[in-house]
Amino acid sequence: MPSESADTTKRAEWSRYGFVLAAIGSAVGLGNIWRFPYVVGENGGGAFLVPYIVSFFCFGIPLMVLEFTVGRGFRGSVVTAFGRLHPRLRHLGLLPFVMTLVVFSYYSVIAGWTLAYIIFSVTGYMDFETFTSSPLPRVTFFATILLAGAVVKVDLKAGIERANRYLMPVLGVALLIMLVQALTLPGVQAGLAYYLTPDLSALSDPAIWVQAAGQVFFSLSIGFGVLLTYGSYLSDSASIPRSAAVIAGVDFLVALVAGFIIFPIVFSFGFDPVSGPQLAFITLPQIFSTMAFGSFFGTIFFILLFVGAISSILSMVEGGVATMVDEWAWPREKATIFICTLAALIGLPSALSYAGYDLILFGAPFLDNVDLLFGTLLVPVSASMICLAFSWLWKPESLLTEVNKNSRFKFSRTAVYYLRYIVPLLLLVTLASTVVRTFL
Ligand code: PFF
Ligand code: NA
Repeated sequence: MPSESADTTKRAEWSRYGFVLAAIGSAVGLGNIWRFPYVVGENGGGAFLVPYIVSFFCFGIPLMVLEFTVGRGFRGSVVTAFGRLHPRLRHLGLLPFVMTLVVFSYYSVIAGWTLAYIIFSVTGYMDFETFTSSPLPRVTFFATILLAGAVVKVDLKAGIERANRYLMPVLGVALLIMLVQALTLPGVQAGLAYYLTPDLSALSDPAIWVQAAGQVFFSLSIGFGVLLTYGSYLSDSASIPRSAAVIAGVDFLVALVAGFIIFPIVFSFGFDPVSGPQLAFITLPQIFSTMAFGSFFGTIFFILLFVGAISSILSMVEGGVATMVDEWAWPREKATIFICTLAALIGLPSALSYAGYDLILFGAPFLDNVDLLFGTLLVPVSASMICLAFSWLWKPESLLTEVNKNSRFKFSRTAVYYLRYIVPLLLLVTLASTVVRTFL
C-alpha cells in the first residue's frame, strides 16, 4: 500500500463548473456594474465599445488564457510559478502579490459601502458624507474582510467554490430584475441614446484607448496573478480556451447589461450621469427613494453590487493565501488570517477616505490614489512581466501542450510569438500613454 502521507502534497482541484463559476466571480464585480457604465458615458458613449473590444481581444483574452495555462502548468501561485520557471525570477511574483493585496484593501472599502447601502435601502438612505464620516464604513469594511476570510480559510471546494455556487445565481437573478425594471421605465430612450450613440470623433483621442485598455485589465482581473492562482487548481481535463471564452464572455455581457440598467434609471428620473462614488452612492439612492417600490429595487441593486464585489474579493484573498501556503507551507487558516489582517491595516487610510479627515494627496482622496497606482498604472507592468517571462523562458512546446490539453481549439506556435512580441508591445504603448495622460 502506498503511504497516505505522500498524498498530503496533492493540490486541491476544482470540481466541474467550479472553476468557471469562481473565475466569473473574480471577473464580474464593481468594475462591470459600477465602473464600466460611467467610463463608457464619459468616453464617447457607444464609440467606447470599439477600443474596448479591440483591447479585449488583442490582449485581454490572450493574457487570461496565459494566466490559466501558467497556473495549471506550474501548479502554484504567482510567486511559486515564477520561481519554478527560473529561481532568479521568483521575486517578480511579489509585484502582483502586493498589487492584489492593496486592491483587496480598498476594494473592500467600497464593498463595505454597498453592504451598508443594502441596509439603508430598507431603513432609508443616509447622506453620503454623513455616512462616510460616521464609524459605519469602518464597520462594514472590517465585516467584508471578515466574511471573505471566513470563506477562504476553509478549503477550496467547501469555501470559494461553494460560495460562488450560491453567489453567481443570486448575481444573475438580481441583474435580470434590475434590467427588466430599468427597461420598462418611462423615457428609456434618453438613457439608451446617451449610452449607445457613438461619438466616433472620440476614437481619435488616445485617452479613450488608454481608458479602454485599463478597463479591460481591471474587469478581467488580468495581471494580478489571481487568475493564475485559480488556474493552478484546474483539472487537466478542462479546456482552458473554452473556459476563458465563457468567463470573458460573461464579464463582457454583465458590463454591457449594467449600462442598460444604470442609464435608463438615471435619465428616466431626470438626473445627470455622474462618475465615481457619486453615481452609486448619491445619485441612485436619491432615485431609489422616490421611485415606486424603490426600497425593493434599491435592495436588489446593492445586493447585486455586494455579491459582485465579494466574489471578486475571494479571488484576491486566495491570491495572497495561496502564496503563503505554497511558499512557506503555512496552513490555510493561518495564511488567511495573515492576509486579511494585512489588508485591514493597509486599507485603513482608504476606509478613512471621503470622511472629512481624508489623507488628500495630489488633490485626490487616498482611495483614488491607491486605485490609480495599484489598480491602473502597475497593472500593465505586472502583466508584461508575466507575458514576457513565460512566453520567452517556458519551452514553447510545454506551453502549447498545456494550453491545448483537452481542447478542441488548438493554438499553434504563432500564439507564442504573438505573446513574445505583439502583446508586450501593446502593453508598452498602453503603459506609456497612461503615464503621459496621468502626469503630463
Ligand atoms: N475584476 C474585478 C471587477 O471587475 O470588479 C476586479 C478585480 C478582481 C481586480 C480581482 C483584481 C483582482 F485581482
Ligand atoms: Na469585471
